[in-house]
This record gives sequence, C-alpha cells and structure tokens, in this order.
Amino acid sequence: MKIIAFNGSPRPAGNTEVLMNEAMKPLRDAGYDLRVFNLNTMNIKPCQDCGGCLTTGICIQKDEMREVFDAIREADRIILASPIFFFGLSAQAKAMIDRCQAFWCEKYLLKKTIPAGPHGRKGLLLLVGGMKKETGRECSAGTAKAFFRTVSVPEHEILFFGGVDAKGDIQKHPTALKEAYEAGKRLGT
Ligand SMILES: Cc1cc2nc3c(=O)[nH]c(=O)nc-3n(C[C@H](O)[C@H](O)[C@H](O)COP(=O)(O)O)c2cc1C
Repeated sequence: MKIIAFNGSPRPAGNTEVLMNEAMKPLRDAGYDLRVFNLNTMNIKPCQDCGGCLTTGICIQKDEMREVFDAIREADRIILASPIFFFGLSAQAKAMIDRCQAFWCEKYLLKKTIPAGPHGRKGLLLLVGGMKKETGRECSAGTAKAFFRTVSVPEHEILFFGGVDAKGDIQKHPTALKEAYEAGKRLGT
C-alpha cells in the first residue's frame, strides 16, 4: 500500500508533525511504502488561475508540485495534517490544495477520476489548533473535504485537537497521540 502524508506546519517538530508521526507509526510498522511531504520547505507556488489545466488537467507550472501530482495519483492513502491558522488550513497546505485544481479539471471537466487500486483510496485529516472553539475545525474540514473528493478519495476520517498551542502541547494532551495512532491503524485497513 502506498501512503503519502502532507505536513502543513512550518514549525519543525511542532504539534502537527508529532501528531502526524504518531498516525504513521502503525503504517510504518506494517511495512507500507510511506512518503512525507514537508510542504513548508518545498517549492510550491500558489495557483495562478491561468487556465493552463482547463483542457488537459495538467498544471503548466514547473515546480515541486510535479512530484506531488504523481504521488497523489499513485497513493492508496493520503494524510493531510495542518495547524489551524486564522480559522483555516495553513497557507502551505492551502497552496498545495489549490494547485490540485488540475485534478479538479481532470475529474469534473474531462470526466476522469483517478483510478483506485485494490486497496481503494482513503484519507485522514489531522488538525491542531490553539483555540478550543470549533470554527477552525469547521472551516478547515470544508477545504479538506473539497481536496479529498477532488483527488478521488471518497472517504476520510477527521481528528481535531483544540487548546493545543505551544510547541510540545500535543504531548500533554490526554488522548491525542493514542487517537492518532488508532486512526493510523484504521487507515491501513
Ligand atoms: C499565524 C497563526 C495563526 C493562528 N490562528 C489560529 C486560529 O485561528 N485558531 C486556532 O485555534 N489556533 C490558531 N493558531 C495557533 C496554532 O494553530 C497552534 O499553535 C498549533 O498548535 C500550531 O501547530 P504546529 O506546532 O504544528 O505549528 C495560529 C497560529 C499562528 C502562528
């Protein structure tokens, strides 16, 4: 099974990364092919709305998104992990998602969905926010749902942990790491 994981946090070893690593543990132990994209350090420009993908479903920008397009196409499982910034996904995560407009054109204009392999395609959304209120979860989940469906992932689970702000706070959360591990296990089935 091929699994890819997007870390949308700019903070090295931050709460998002710790949570994502925990979700990946059972998948790594199961021997699956895992690839992590640390979006903050990648050269991924925002979508230019140039229309270049409209008739082909292929983005004309030449940057590291090219690797991401291939990886998304081949993946059986996709993990999207992001801190909540201003009630939404981080800019790093959103830039990658917006570039998937190429997949949107392929799916909805050219009527081609990404074919699922024998394991199907499933997703996992991991969200961490400093505030306890649900607004950030709701806004981010809407964008993430649009992403997953656009890249032909028909189902995904969501884990959100609020009140997790300072670096390392996720380690002090009573259930977060266990919940992420269990969600990772389910993702591998
Ligand atoms: C630019 C910025 C905006 C933020 N906006 C929100 C927000 O709207 N809601 C929230 O719950 N937390 C917000 N936070 C707090 C982060 O979500 C929180 O610190 C999180 O734990 C960071 O995860 P990380 O360690 O993986 O980067 C914001 C933090 C930053 C730096």
